[in-house]
Amino acid sequence: MKIFITRQIPGKALEELKKIHEVEIWPGPGIIPRDILLKKTAGTSAVIPMLTEKMDSEFFDKAGPDLKIVANYAVGFDNIDLDAASQKNIAVTNTPSHLGDSVAELTIALILALSRRIVESDKWMREGNYTAWDPSLFLGLDLSEKTIGIVGLGTIGLATARLADSVLGMKVVYTARSEKPEAAVPGWRFEKLPQLLSEVDVISLHVPLTPKTRHMIGKDQLDLMKPSAILINTSRGPVINEAALYEALVNRRIWGAAIDVYENETGLADDSTWWKMTKLPNIIMTPHIGSATIEAREEMTKIAVENVLTVLSGKPPVNPV
Ligand code: GLV
Ligand code: GLV
Repeated sequence: MKIFITRQIPGKALEELKKIHEVEIWPGPGIIPRDILLKKTAGTSAVIPMLTEKMDSEFFDKAGPDLKIVANYAVGFDNIDLDAASQKNIAVTNTPSHLGDSVAELTIALILALSRRIVESDKWMREGNYTAWDPSLFLGLDLSEKTIGIVGLGTIGLATARLADSVLGMKVVYTARSEKPEAAVPGWRFEKLPQLLSEVDVISLHVPLTPKTRHMIGKDQLDLMKPSAILINTSRGPVINEAALYEALVNRRIWGAAIDVYENETGLADDSTWWKMTKLPNIIMTPHIGSATIEAREEMTKIAVENVLTVLSGKPPVNPV
């Protein structure tokens, strides 16, 4: 059967797929143009898209009746119209598993880098500014005994909470749709979002992007935070209203932010708020690298391939969303 993959992806598991099916991979560079995507996927039985591809009803119509599965190469799936897929009985899967640990590790790295001003001081060092030890140089914030607020306690939120607790000695407050049995840990507590925002020292976002979570953090929520609070986003850019974040950072309403995801990820060059943010010292920005480890990407390929093989052999998907 015909399978189309929208980008070159790492991982040995692809060889398994090629042994059994006819696999075509978009060679790049960059994101596949929409018209080519629609042309290449017409008549295929399976597609492995990236989070950069919009899988909407137009896509499902043009793909045609052979399409059985869309195996998203990501844990998030806000790029896929699930109603449109289910109307046509097309399976949609994602790549969970230990990718959660990879994102949690990046989150902890960003918390440490921001609170100890590592990126700022590295830049300053390379500029040749250091002459001698100085008691007031690059003062940061301690984390031990402070409280982290986890917004969204799914796999990634939970992995982040565990690391913050066990590695950094932080207390954990979390918010989710309901209290979670897996969070019945000494020193952990459930709170509603406004209470969490007003009392914690570090806020880390781990919700999926949905109409309900879009701009979940805007001016009103930033105003609730402590002036010493730091905000981390390794989930999806539009969960934060970036214009409001810029105002909070430039006015020092909060201590700082570290973000791996952006409201307008494919249009940063034309995004004036983003350009203004790049000039601020109290923000760290990474290029959506939450799951970008050699191990996680290998595993993501393995999971996507396994789902495609399973569904094309007539069985239910392993990781349906
Ligand atoms: C990355 O952002 C993912 O959803 O896997
Ligand atoms: C710092 O280097 C210290 O010795 O306190």
